[in-house]
Amino acid sequence: MINNKPSYTGDIAAQEIDPTKEYSSENQELDFSAEQHSIWADLFAGVHQPYLLEHVCKEWLTGMELLQLSPKHIPTVAHLNKNITPRTGWKIERTVVRYTLADDWYKKFAQRVFLITDYLRTRDQMEFTPEPDMFHDIFGHLPFLTQEFYARIEDKFAPAYMKATQEEREVIKRLAWYSTEFGLVTQENRFKIFGAGIISGRSEFTHTVMEFYRLGRDNVIDYSKNVYAQLEKHFEKNKKDVHRIIAGVNKLHQKGQMSSEENGWNVIKSLYDNLGISRTGYFGGEVLLAPFDLETIALIPKTVYAFNPMFFVCESLEKMDELLDSYLKPIALRA
Ligand SMILES: [Fe+2]
Repeated sequence: MINNKPSYTGDIAAQEIDPTKEYSSENQELDFSAEQHSIWADLFAGVHQPYLLEHVCKEWLTGMELLQLSPKHIPTVAHLNKNITPRTGWKIERTVVRYTLADDWYKKFAQRVFLITDYLRTRDQMEFTPEPDMFHDIFGHLPFLTQEFYARIEDKFAPAYMKATQEEREVIKRLAWYSTEFGLVTQENRFKIFGAGIISGRSEFTHTVMEFYRLGRDNVIDYSKNVYAQLEKHFEKNKKDVHRIIAGVNKLHQKGQMSSEENGWNVIKSLYDNLGISRTGYFGGEVLLAPFDLETIALIPKTVYAFNPMFFVCESLEKMDELLDSYLKPIALRA
């Protein structure tokens, strides 16, 4: 039987927008309520802890200092631009859209504009929010945007996206998702968090850090030896099972079963059980780590609105640059 149902690609649900409510260039600043500032302060304090920050890549930490975010108050757009534009040429603009669709997002990217939503999560979503809110946009991404290497990475996506076929656009979205949103990198022979989605979400952040420790505890990774080489070895050895998991994830997506905030991790646990993959050793964690492999990333959809079952680790940010170029540049250079 041929399945005519389109594959679920992890796309964002369309949102009804009143275009008259969108911000203009003269009208970017908002008056936030005391409660909103207090939510910001609690989110900030929740992540800005030494025992968490030691797992974030050094570029974010440098950017955090340059951006001078207040731990107590939501910054103004003017403050953000003052610290970002002179450094990288990127500009921040506010939008009423809660979750911008890729086509609109990359149109702005082509102009080196990074959109930040005017939506802030509510108190019941302090650990996990299915939608990127302004805390995610500002705290997760913008420290990076003070730096040339990040601007260079972000600059790669729009020119390729504009020339890409529909199928390639899907891959481009996944590459962005598994790098700038949920990517990891090795630095000083440790796994470090790079993606803004992990940095700004305490739940995914702590699950990821837990996995770093578990890999050591279960003797999967010996942190006194080259960690990236060991990860590559585990991946190569288990590639068949990793790809069976990815096929299973695709099926869950098609059935709409990944999109459950409550069942996020449990869905994956039952997937492993159904595939007969024992949740031990390399497969024993809440999130599976694999090397940043373009072919594998092209196979796995984005998990919007739910927990991600898999993260990809780049050997270095220079390597990420190179790997992204290898896919994006030939498309961008098309006539
Ligand atoms: Fe993001």
